[in-house]
Amino acid sequence: MTINEIKKGILLAGGNGSRLNPITLGTSKQLLPIYNKPTIYYPLTTLMLGGIQNVLIITTKKDKENYINLLGNGSKWGMKIHYAIQEKPNGIAEAFLIAEDFIEKDKVSLILGDNLFFGQELSNLLIKSFSTNGASIFAYPVNDPSRYGVIEFDKNFKAKSIVEKPKNPKSKYAITGLYTFDNKVIDYCKNLKPSKRGELEITEIQKIYLKNKELNIKVLGRATGWFDTGTFDSLHEA
Ligand code: DAU
Repeated sequence: MTINEIKKGILLAGGNGSRLNPITLGTSKQLLPIYNKPTIYYPLTTLMLGGIQNVLIITTKKDKENYINLLGNGSKWGMKIHYAIQEKPNGIAEAFLIAEDFIEKDKVSLILGDNLFFGQELSNLLIKSFSTNGASIFAYPVNDPSRYGVIEFDKNFKAKSIVEKPKNPKSKYAITGLYTFDNKVIDYCKNLKPSKRGELEITEIQKIYLKNKELNIKVLGRATGWFDTGTFDSLHEA
């Protein structure tokens, strides 16, 4: 990617939102309000502040029209917004297969549509992730790591293992829903098999980068806030 080229990002806003039923029977969870704005504004702003102006929103067939009504082609924010459909919630990693033509030969960030980040630190980190080799992920200490992908460190703070929603988490560090990957991610996803719960797991992709010593991990500091708004309690907290 040349310096002047517009950076690309994917915003994943599909899924059933089944943990927020019955509200999400009538609407998408990323359209629910957080204070005075639809949830999706927050991850979109995170991408924008990270210098990403070319965004593919992946959503469901039933919700696509609502997102177009809300965000249009992005020109009012100086962005280019495109849309694609995920037929079924087959897993977060499927985003890279759906987005193959959008990504072309470039690097790409992915942000989950229900993830909210606050603080200035992240913008620079996201900008930096585009000039870093391999993949970049952001970890955050939480009280309930079992809800997330969890990364374990050794005593020298070197990453040791990654587990999706571990029953007995080996650390308190959750992997947040914001990642930047180099172009190899597409091939890795093509070779990925669905997990026991039937999803193409993003943590399996992170494990490949970890094994190949190409996973850059940044633990977000206290000045940064992070919320995953996938449940009523977390939505309320956000
Ligand atoms: O929030 C961070 C966590 O997000 C990570 O720590 C986990 O490693 C990662 O798997 C993910 O876990 P969640 O349980 O929070 O994922 P969830 O199924 O809630 O999906 C996250 C968002 O992505 C949500 O807005 C719905 C959307 N999604 C999800 C799937 C599986 C899709 O659009 N399509 C999908 O197929």
